[in-house]
Amino acid sequence: MSYKIIITGGAGFIGSHLVRHFVNKYPDYSIINLDKLTYAGNLENLKDIEDKSNYAFVKGDISDAAFINNLFETENPDAVIHLAAESHVDRSILNPGDFINTNIIGTLNLLNAARSIWNPGSDKNLFYHISTDEVYGSLGKEGYFTEETAYDPRSPYSASKAGSDHLVRAFFHTYNMPVVVSNCSNNYGPYQFPEKLIPLMIHNIVNRKALPVYGQGAQTRDWLWVLDHVYAIDLIFHKGKVGETYNIGGSNEWQNINLVNTICSIMDKKLNRKTGDSAKLITFVKDRAGHDMRYAIDASKIKNELGWKASIGFEQGLEQTIDWYLANEEWLEHVTSGAYQNYYEKQYEER
Ligand code: NAD
Ligand code: TYD
Repeated sequence: MSYKIIITGGAGFIGSHLVRHFVNKYPDYSIINLDKLTYAGNLENLKDIEDKSNYAFVKGDISDAAFINNLFETENPDAVIHLAAESHVDRSILNPGDFINTNIIGTLNLLNAARSIWNPGSDKNLFYHISTDEVYGSLGKEGYFTEETAYDPRSPYSASKAGSDHLVRAFFHTYNMPVVVSNCSNNYGPYQFPEKLIPLMIHNIVNRKALPVYGQGAQTRDWLWVLDHVYAIDLIFHKGKVGETYNIGGSNEWQNINLVNTICSIMDKKLNRKTGDSAKLITFVKDRAGHDMRYAIDASKIKNELGWKASIGFEQGLEQTIDWYLANEEWLEHVTSGAYQNYYEKQYEER
């Protein structure tokens, strides 16, 4: 079967890896990348595939209902893989409104538009919503998030993603809309905007800037190589069961301070600096408001039912990521000018 798929947020971090993967792996599919190109979206991420005949880019805002309805009527997509979102927790603390508009209203607009053009019961249609494990809240030292864990979002970002997850499932139950949802742990890899922990630390080490570690750096995240997320999305898109939820995670937990120290020692070697040089840049700053202590995913369902497993280990993935950032300083230069710079300075002044 061949599909026409609208991928939203395809110019962002995960979206660009997903678009590239689908465009290259499925030449019979038609892929439309719908993206507003916010500070986090960058078409440079997709330079290598922009001329492919099965790829098209549409600039647009998912919170604009009239525009979205018109696009769906014109393009008549078979499926949607929805990634467009405001995605950074710290920004959601400063400005929750943008998160409601894009993550909740935007998702509702896409659901309404898909519902208006799809015939109930068609097995070719799918609304695939990409979400986060942060909807489950915060874990203590023990335990893992499963698909049955009750929702307990605690930041404006995770609350907005929880709202969108609920809407997607409500459309399944109420209107028989064919949907699937996946909730993934923290991703890392090339093309991640340098406001998230790993690329921010790499960028600041290169420039000998302070490495802001929130609180004591005691929080724990479960890091997953971005392409392993993409491979999971491919599997779920093709083999997942309609109406189901799949958790995706790397079984790769790191306390923030240990991760930052590890990045520092790899970077000392790469940059030919004295051992311990980069770690001197570590600066403990005021903790994030409402900072979730620990996220960790139980990924047995996707492993057992769909045969997914992570393709590379963290050591290899982290090394590849650092190498990519060191080789792509021009990309960093471009994405860190302008809006990002102002935001970063403001954040830093406030701490
Ligand atoms: P990102 O911030 O790098 O990219 C988001 C993209 O969405 C950007 O290209 C941006 O331009 C676009 N966008 C934002 N608002 C839009 C709007 N109103 N209309 C159209 N496009 C808009 O995000 P990411 O890290 O690639 O995350 C992608 C998705 O995956 C998000 O839904 C996020 O919640 C989810 N997710 C991310 C992670 C992670 O670790 N990054 C983990 C689990 C789930
Ligand atoms: P982040 O990459 O923002 O992802 P999320 O908050 O969605 O998990 O942050 C990962 C962890 O790193 C989180 O516990 C907050 C912490 N952190 C810092 O200590 N310093 C920083 O500058 C950033 C951006 C994050």
